[in-house]
Formats: sequence, C-alpha cells, structure tokens
Amino acid sequence: MITNQGTGTRIDEVAAGIYRICTPLDVIPGGFTFNSYLIADDEPLLFHTGYRKIFPPTLEAIGKVVPAAKLRWIGGSHFEGDEYGALNDFLAAAPEATPFGTEIGVLTSLNDFASRPARGFEDGEEFSIGSRRMKWLYTPHVPHGWDCGILFDLSTKTLMCGDLFTQPGANLPPLTESEVLSASEGMRGMMDYYAHSMRTSAILEHLASLQPSVLACQHGSAYRGDGAALIRELATTIERGNAKLSEQPPVVTA
Ligand SMILES: [Fe+2]
Ligand SMILES: [Fe+2]
Repeated sequence: MITNQGTGTRIDEVAAGIYRICTPLDVIPGGFTFNSYLIADDEPLLFHTGYRKIFPPTLEAIGKVVPAAKLRWIGGSHFEGDEYGALNDFLAAAPEATPFGTEIGVLTSLNDFASRPARGFEDGEEFSIGSRRMKWLYTPHVPHGWDCGILFDLSTKTLMCGDLFTQPGANLPPLTESEVLSASEGMRGMMDYYAHSMRTSAILEHLASLQPSVLACQHGSAYRGDGAALIRELATTIERGNAKLSEQPPVVTA
C-alpha cells in the first residue's frame, strides 16, 4: 500500500506482523530503496529509522498499522544515517521507546547521539516484545561496521539482515521468492561496501544456522525462501572472490 504519493513511501506485510516500510530515493542511477521494518506486537519495534529527511513519511506509514506513539523499541543494524538518522525524531514521537543496538554501538555512538539512554544487546541475547521473542546477533564488519548486528524474529524466522543482500533499483516488489543474490552481488561489484573481515564466512554460517525463512533486507525486496541456502551461497561467492584476489601477483613498488 502506497502511503505517501509525494515520496512514494509504501508499507507492506512481508511476514506475520512484520511490515516493510519502503521509500525510494534517487541516490544512485536507477534508484535505490530504504526500508524500515515495523514489528507489531504488545511492544511494537522499529528496525531502522531511515534518514531524518524521510522521517515524516516513515512516521505516516507506521501510523497505518500502530500509533507511532506506542513504539517501544527503536533500533538498527549499525550506526549510519539510514539506520539511525531519524532516531531522535522517533524518540520524541514515542515517549516510551527505548533505543537499542549492539553493545559496542551503544558505547561508540548511540549513547552520545540518542536523546535517551540506549540498550545494548550482546551476541545471542534474546528479549520479548510480547507474543514473540527476538534474538540479537553480533556480526562485526559483516557487511560493515564494528558495531554491526542483526535482529532475528524467532516466531516467524525473519532475519532483519540490514545491508546484507542490498539490491539496487527503485521499483522492486516488497517481497520476492526469486533469489536476490545476483542483484546484490551486482551492487557489491559496483560499490565495495563489505569490510574485508577474516570472519565473514564464520559469521554468515552462524546466520545461516538460524534457518531464516524471510530475509528482511534494508535495501531492495525482502526475500522469502531458503534463507540459509542463499546466505551460504553468498559466503561461497565472497570466498571465491577472496581466493582470486590472493592469486594476483603482489603490487611491486620501486
Ligand atoms: Fe550500512
Ligand atoms: Fe543501509
């Protein structure tokens, strides 16, 4: 459902009680989408605030599902403008909401930036938001950011996977059952946005072991299908690329 004709913001349910709020922005040729995810429960949770400049249409879209003032949890994967930019606007609109992120993110950025103290979750920590339990996974440098983490809804097996599987384009369906790896690899080829961590494969395997059935990407369509298989394919593709790089002769300097 389009909720704002001016910005093209829309909201769609991509798993039971999980809503993708999407605003397209003209930041790269062909367009790009910025998604926040609203999880409707006794303690409604918002994952990614979006940039400050898209706060009004994001707030408007949330209001189609729950009163924004009722939000209780507001967090994101890592500290960048599209993940946390509008945090303080949301904290003002939702007086009982607690900002959250990974422990190191709270230490390095959130407790300085946020207008209220933030809650830092440790790797594997679970918390309840009413009828469902959420699990926090610490994924440092995957795809980027020392403070990077990912949120998993244990009830629907939805992985709020942040910048993993980022797909370019402005007019993508809210939810797809077609693989999103080819598109996201195209994006990774165009913009080298992955940190070159030694632990990327181990972290991706940890995420795959959760057997997610929905990958709720921050940019592009959400994917419904065998999330574990797609994550393992991503890990293999990255490893193959790294092997090729290591085969290249060293750069000789005079
Ligand atoms: Fe990012
Ligand atoms: Fe992002």
